[in-house]
Amino acid sequence: MVFSRTATVLVFIYYLASCACSCRDETLYFKEPCSGQETVDIDDSSGVVRAFEGIGAISGGGATSKLLVNYPEKERNEILDYLFKPGFGASLQIFKVEIGGDMQSTDGTEASHMHYSWEENYHRGYEWWLLKEAKKRNPNIKLYCLTWGFPGWIGKGTNNPYIDPELTADYIVRWIRGAKTIHNLTMDYVGIWNERPYNIKYIKTLRQTLDHNGFQNTLIVAPDDFGWNLAHDIKNDEHLEKIVHAIGAHYPGTQSADYARNTRKPLWASEDYSTFNDVVGGGCWARTLNQNYVNGLMTATISWNLIGSYYPNLPFPRNGLMTAMEPWSGHYVVETPIWVTAHTTQFVPLGWRYLRHHKGVAKLSKGGSHVALTNDARDQLTIVIETMSHDHSICVRPKLPPYEVSPQTITLTLSGSFKKISKLNVWYSKLIFNGSESQMFMKRDPLVFTNGQAQLCLGVDEIYTLTTLNTGEKGVHPKPRDPSPFPLNVHDNFTTYEEYQEPFNLAPQIGSYEVRKINGESVLRQTVLQRPVYWCKSETLGKTMSIIGNHSWTQMGISAVVEIPRVNGTDGVFVAARVDRGGCYSNEAQGIFFFTFPITGKLMVTNDLARTKVLYQGTVPMTSGKHEMNLTVTESKAQGYYDQRQVFSLDLPETPKNGWVALGTDSYGLADFHSYTVKVPQEASEDILSSKIKLHY
Ligand SMILES: *[C@@H]1O[C@H](CO)[C@@H](O)[C@H](O)[C@H]1NC(C)=O
Ligand SMILES: *[C@@H]1O[C@H](CO)[C@@H](O)[C@H](O)[C@H]1NC(C)=O
Ligand SMILES: *[C@@H]1O[C@H](CO)[C@@H](O)[C@H](O)[C@H]1NC(C)=O
Ligand SMILES: *[C@@H]1O[C@H](CO)[C@@H](O)[C@H](O)[C@H]1NC(C)=O
Ligand SMILES: *[C@@H]1O[C@H](CO)[C@@H](O)[C@H](O)[C@H]1NC(C)=O
Ligand SMILES: *[C@@H]1O[C@H](CO)[C@@H](O)[C@H](O)[C@H]1NC(C)=O
Repeated sequence: MVFSRTATVLVFIYYLASCACSCRDETLYFKEPCSGQETVDIDDSSGVVRAFEGIGAISGGGATSKLLVNYPEKERNEILDYLFKPGFGASLQIFKVEIGGDMQSTDGTEASHMHYSWEENYHRGYEWWLLKEAKKRNPNIKLYCLTWGFPGWIGKGTNNPYIDPELTADYIVRWIRGAKTIHNLTMDYVGIWNERPYNIKYIKTLRQTLDHNGFQNTLIVAPDDFGWNLAHDIKNDEHLEKIVHAIGAHYPGTQSADYARNTRKPLWASEDYSTFNDVVGGGCWARTLNQNYVNGLMTATISWNLIGSYYPNLPFPRNGLMTAMEPWSGHYVVETPIWVTAHTTQFVPLGWRYLRHHKGVAKLSKGGSHVALTNDARDQLTIVIETMSHDHSICVRPKLPPYEVSPQTITLTLSGSFKKISKLNVWYSKLIFNGSESQMFMKRDPLVFTNGQAQLCLGVDEIYTLTTLNTGEKGVHPKPRDPSPFPLNVHDNFTTYEEYQEPFNLAPQIGSYEVRKINGESVLRQTVLQRPVYWCKSETLGKTMSIIGNHSWTQMGISAVVEIPRVNGTDGVFVAARVDRGGCYSNEAQGIFFFTFPITGKLMVTNDLARTKVLYQGTVPMTSGKHEMNLTVTESKAQGYYDQRQVFSLDLPETPKNGWVALGTDSYGLADFHSYTVKVPQEASEDILSSKIKLHY
C-alpha cells in the first residue's frame, strides 16, 4: 500500500520534471512549466484591434418561432430566459428578425405590415412580441431587421424589389418607424434583401430615407448574401463606403476575402450555423464562434436560427440554438449550442476588443483555436479556447476541409496590461459523442498564474473560457415537462385571438393568414391578393396553404367552415390530408386535396396541390355564403362531405402514406375560414406508435 502510494507520487513528480505533459483526466492544470509545449502569448503591448460586435440569432427566415408563442406562459418565459436573459444562458447580444413579406422564407410565411399599398398594420405575427420579450430581458440587446421578400405591390408586377427604390425604402422605414412608435423598439441594424442581389442605388436610397425620418442611428449591414463582393463596390464608391456599417456574409466557413478585410469595414457572419442542434451542432457552433474571428476577422456571428419552433418535418428541423416544438405538451430542450454561446457572451461584452494575432488570437498547433479580448481600460481579460475535432464540428455548409486535433498542454503567458493577473476564472465544457450527456458550461477551479505563466491541459472537443470576470451563471429552470404527440382533436373558431394575430399551430406555407373580425365574427382570413416578390419557388404556383398537425398521421379528418368574400375573393378553397411537404417545396406538395369552387360550382379531388393529378371531379351547389367542407381519410378511403352531404368516396392513391392536414386557397385572393376541426382516430396514432416500437427489433 505505502509503497504503491509513494510510487505514484514519484511517478507524478517525474512526469512533471520530464516535461511529458500529456493530459490526464483528473489533472487539468500543471503548476510547473514544462519546456517543449506550445506557448500562447496574451499580450496587448502592441495594441488591440477590432471591436467585438456580438453573437446573435435570427427569428424568421422564415417562421422559425411559429410554435413558440403558444407555449404555456411558464415554459415560454423559461425558454426566453435561456435565450436572452443576460448571465443566464445564451445571453444573446444581437437579435435579428424577419420583416415579414407575406411569402415563404424557409419554414413558413410571415405577415407583412403592408399587405397592400393602402393599409399598414403593426400587430401581425409574433415577431413584435418576441422582440419585446428579448428587450425586456436585455435592454442592451442589438436589434437587426431584414426582409426575405416583399408583398407583390412593391415589385409592381415583377420579382424585383428595386424597381422603385423610393417605394421599397419607404416600406422598410415604415416598419422601422412602426417598431419605434407602436412598440418602443429601436432598430440598431437593417439589412437589404436576404441572399438575393443587392442594389447600390437602393442602399443609398434606404440610407437617405432612414436619415430623413430620424433613424440616423439605424446602421446598414449589407448585403446579407454569400460572399464578399460588396467589398469591391465599397472600394470604388466613397459614398457607399460611408453608409455601410458592416459587410455581412452568410455561411463564410470562417473565411473572409483579403479584399473584404482591406476595406477595414467590420465583417460579420450575418447568418451562420444552420445545423441540426445535436452535439455535432454544438461543436460546429463552438468552432465557428472562435474561428470566424481567427481565420476571417469576423466580429459578429448570427445563428440561423434562434430556436427550433416549427414542425420537425419542415426543411432544416432543429436548426436553432435550442428546441421548443411542442406547445401542446410544454416540452422543450436546452441544447448544447446554448451553453457554447454562453462561453463567449457571458464574458465578452459588446465593444471589447480582440488582441492581435499571435498575441492572444491564433490556431493551436495540435488543433483548435483561441481568442482573447479586453475592455477599453485593459483591466479585464477573457480568453476562449476550443478544440473541436473535425467530425464532431461539421456544419451544414460549407464543406469542412480535413484537420487533426489531439490532446495538448499549452503554456499561457500573460504580458502587457495582463502581467499582474494572478488567476483567471475557468468555465469548461466537454462535448461527448458516445451517448452520455455532454458536460456543459461548468465552473472549474481558477487557473493560477505564477510570474504571468500557467499551464493548461486541453482535451479534444472541449471549450474553455478563462476570464477575470467574476460573473457567469449556468441558469437553470425546473426540468421541462415530458414530450407528447400533437393532440388528436383540435377545434378552433378564432374567437380567442386579438384581431390580426396568427392562430396557434396552423403554420402558413404560402399566403398570409390572420384573424379578422368580420361583421362581429372572428374568421381566419387569407389576405394575399397577388404573388409576392418571392424568395423561393413555392410562390410560383399561385396557391396558398397552411398546415397543421403531425406529419406521421396516416388517417385523419379535417373539416372547415369556409366563405369566399365577394370582393377580391379567391376562386376556390381546399381542405387536405396527408400533405407531405412544406417550406420552399410547398408547390410540389402531394396529398389528398379536396377543392371546391363555389362560384362555378365545381368540386375537385387531387393528389397534389398543383391540381395536376386529378382523382375525382364533381359539382357542388352554386351558392355563396358559408359552407362546410369535410375530408376524412381512413386506411384505404378518402371521403368528402359538402354541407354535411357526402360528395365523394374514393380509393386512396398509393402515395403519400402520411402527412399533415392543411387548408388553403386555389389562387391568391381573400378567403375566410370561420372554424376548422381536426380529428385523428386513436387507432391510427397507435399504429404509428407500434410501428415505431417495431423499429427497435
Ligand atoms: C422605451 O424604451 C426605453 C428603453 O429602450 C425606455 O427607457 C422607455 O421608458 C420606454 N418608453 C416607454 C413609453 O415604455
Ligand atoms: C462516454 O464518455 C465519457 C467521457 O468521455 C465516459 O465517462 C462515459 O463512461 C462514456 N459512456 C459510455 C456509455 O461509453
Ligand atoms: C407525431 O406522432 C409520433 C407518434 O405518436 C410522435 O412520435 C411524434 O413526436 C409526433 N410529432 C409531432 C410533431 O407531434
Ligand atoms: C367557439 O368555440 C368555443 C369552444 O371551442 C365555443 O364555446 C364558442 O361558443 C364558439 N363561438 C362561436 C362564435 O362559434
Ligand atoms: C366529417 O364528417 C363525418 C361524417 O359526418 C364526421 O363523422 C366527422 O366527424 C367529420 N370530421 C370532422 C373533422 O369534423
Ligand atoms: C380589393 O382590391 C382593390 C384593388 O385591387 C382595392 O382597392 C380594394 O380596397 C380591395 N377590397 C378589399 C375589401 O380588400
